[in-house]
Amino acid sequence: MRNIPYIDLKTQHKLLKDELIEAFSQVLENADFILGEEVNLLESKIADYCGVKYAIGVNSGTDALFLSLKGCGIGPENEVITVPNSFIATVSSIVATGAKPVFVDVKKDMNIDPELVEKNITKRTKAIIPVHLGGKPASMDQIIEIAQRYNLFVIEDAAQAIGAEYKGKKVGSLGYAGCFSFHPLKTLNACGDGGIITTNDEKLYKVLVQLRNIGLKNRNEVEIWGYNSRLDTIQAAILLIKMKYLDVWIEKRRKIAKYYIKHLQGIVDLPTENSDIKSVYYTFVIRTDNRDKLQKYLEKHGVKTKIYYPIPIHLQKIVAKTFDYKKGDFPVCESLVEKILSLPIHQGLSDNDLTYIVNRIQDFFGKR
Ligand SMILES: Cc1ncc(COP(=O)(O)O)c(C=O)c1O
Repeated sequence: MRNIPYIDLKTQHKLLKDELIEAFSQVLENADFILGEEVNLLESKIADYCGVKYAIGVNSGTDALFLSLKGCGIGPENEVITVPNSFIATVSSIVATGAKPVFVDVKKDMNIDPELVEKNITKRTKAIIPVHLGGKPASMDQIIEIAQRYNLFVIEDAAQAIGAEYKGKKVGSLGYAGCFSFHPLKTLNACGDGGIITTNDEKLYKVLVQLRNIGLKNRNEVEIWGYNSRLDTIQAAILLIKMKYLDVWIEKRRKIAKYYIKHLQGIVDLPTENSDIKSVYYTFVIRTDNRDKLQKYLEKHGVKTKIYYPIPIHLQKIVAKTFDYKKGDFPVCESLVEKILSLPIHQGLSDNDLTYIVNRIQDFFGKR
């Protein structure tokens, strides 16, 4: 029996070991650990990659969201519209500003349903956070059109979606700000925590640079209250190495997705992509009524899978209690949660691994 992990960071690091150690040594030698040259370099590379003017390195995807919201002046008197099927950080960053998260349901493709956004806008609404879940861009034209009509900020939660495109533009360049995570499980991954914010707005850029560095305008002057949320030089150095491989890794994921789609067609519900978007398949999510049994069957045959996310955010105890949500509030999200299963889709998967996974799924459904 094979043992196919859901994620395989060890193989990635084995391949990059010499380069990473060299980068690491350079940082030790320079000893410029806080906001060193590598942070500037990474910021300009990410800005170029995403097609925006500015990028600001911060210490996590969560802080990227929190600081972007703060940078938009969002606080306790405001509401922010987002989805109930994301990582909790999307919502905890809103709550951390004092604002109220307002959920709207998703479409069958698991991304925000723009039709529902407008109905939930109130006088207090100040921003929309679409999440490009699993690396698939949300319906940005509709969201931006609504945001413009109501004068709202669009903050993209692109934590899972670096490299994804919507109508030829990279995510992170579509809204007022784009928020990325470099968590070790992400496609562009640090060896620890990290994140970055992208924007074309000079004013926001200038505020964010201060917000992430305890409010410091320069070495001695402070004009706003800030936080300590800097991206470590050492993480930036590691990310600069990994960035060279980002597009190759994305292509590998897309190739795996294509393989799954070809061989699982008609057996389970599969992710779709139209000509407007390029997904980067941070996750490859299939849907089936037999999800739990299939997951156990695959586990028994050595294939690790995951459920992103097993509990919708509005039903997390703290969220339901604080904001008075209940089961039944977001039927599409709640029904998807029962059916979704993420298959392994990392760079370390061999052709044999993929055949094995697909064959086991075909066997489970008696369709080989
Ligand atoms: C959709 C989404 N938003 C936000 C985050 C938060 O990022 P981080 O873990 O870097 O704080 C993550 C990932 O962890 C995520 O997947």
